[in-house]
Amino acid sequence: MTETLEAVSVEVAEREKQTIFQTYERLPIGEVMSASGSYLYTQDGKRYLDAIAGLGVNALGHSDPALVLAVQQQAERYLHLSNLYLQGPQVRLAEQLTRMTGWDKVFFTNSGTEAVEGAFKLARKYFSDPNKVGLVGLSNGFHGRTYGPLSVMDKPKYREGFGPFVPNTAVADVLDVASLRASVSEATAAVIVEVIQGEGGIHEMTEEFVIALHELREQYGFLIIADEIQSGVGRTGTFFAYEQFGLAPDIVVCAKAIGGGLPLGAILTSNTIASVFTPGSHGTTFGGNALACAAGSIVLDRLAADLQENILRLAPLFFSKLGELRERYPGMIHSVRGKGFMIGIEMHGSAKQIAQGLLTEHHIIVNVTGNEVIRLLPPLVWSEREINEFLYGFECMLKTLRN
Ligand SMILES: Cc1ncc(COP(=O)(O)O)c(C=O)c1O
Repeated sequence: MTETLEAVSVEVAEREKQTIFQTYERLPIGEVMSASGSYLYTQDGKRYLDAIAGLGVNALGHSDPALVLAVQQQAERYLHLSNLYLQGPQVRLAEQLTRMTGWDKVFFTNSGTEAVEGAFKLARKYFSDPNKVGLVGLSNGFHGRTYGPLSVMDKPKYREGFGPFVPNTAVADVLDVASLRASVSEATAAVIVEVIQGEGGIHEMTEEFVIALHELREQYGFLIIADEIQSGVGRTGTFFAYEQFGLAPDIVVCAKAIGGGLPLGAILTSNTIASVFTPGSHGTTFGGNALACAAGSIVLDRLAADLQENILRLAPLFFSKLGELRERYPGMIHSVRGKGFMIGIEMHGSAKQIAQGLLTEHHIIVNVTGNEVIRLLPPLVWSEREINEFLYGFECMLKTLRN
């Protein structure tokens, strides 16, 4: 039986290689047949604890019953109408979002990178001045794979072979106030930042840098865009992570968790800034799709009902247990970083082996970023049970590799 299943999963892997662009390294666990709550189930009958939640997307875990029901009910009403029509699910989600965040207006997109592109366009149109079009990002940041985001990023692995990039763009050294100062001017329209760099390895912004960013905005009159695509929608313990860093952005972009598993992103801003996008000046065919918005409403309902509280209660416990492990294995764990359920465990050289061992021996899925950082983006519904399951597997790997 097992042999047959293995043969089938090898066959799927082969067919994938023959037909799909080879841009992703798939986890070597065969085909996933179903997923429920915090677990994935593969073709060979194994169960895996998912500690990265579809790369930060499955806020309610996999196939949450209320979310599935909302999508089914919406599918029976209509799947897609286009933005030619008024659609209740969009309006309901926008109301929830504005109420929960304090922003005035929402523009829905399909993905994170599309939200960032939209925010850049919005900033340039807001000034509508050919001498104020500069876009600035920070080193080690990640904002997406299309040309706007790539143009304000510096990592060769994302950019190599794709130039030339968008003119009037720059990258300042992250956390380096002098470099930021040298990178902005009267010609800057917007600076985009992640208060916690996600793909970059869970690195947090300093208070000094936030203060400098605010002062430079005051001096040059640019807009600050907070990229909350990975850190937003409750993951860090507040709706947006910037709230914990004292940052006051002008525009916020989010995606991933907002759709709970359906493709959805959003740009949030004030009435004044939003008003520069007039009918026809910006748009999208699928953005704000009714199914995605119906799912998003369930995510926000749950966040308000119990999930935000769940994270605030469990994250300190999780961090304190990880801190204890760091004390017990100082030669292996360099540091534990992040906020809420956005966690980076920086290792001294063993991150990849640990991730591999967690997968094959303990059936726990984590992700390694920035080479040495084990990144955890668990579903926001994790309880102490899943945290302990992870900690047990992680400590077993620490013991194995220390010897
Ligand atoms: C901070 C941040 N910005 C932007 C993006 C791009 O989002 P998407 O892959 O939906 O285009 C990501 C994706 O990982 C991200 O983490």
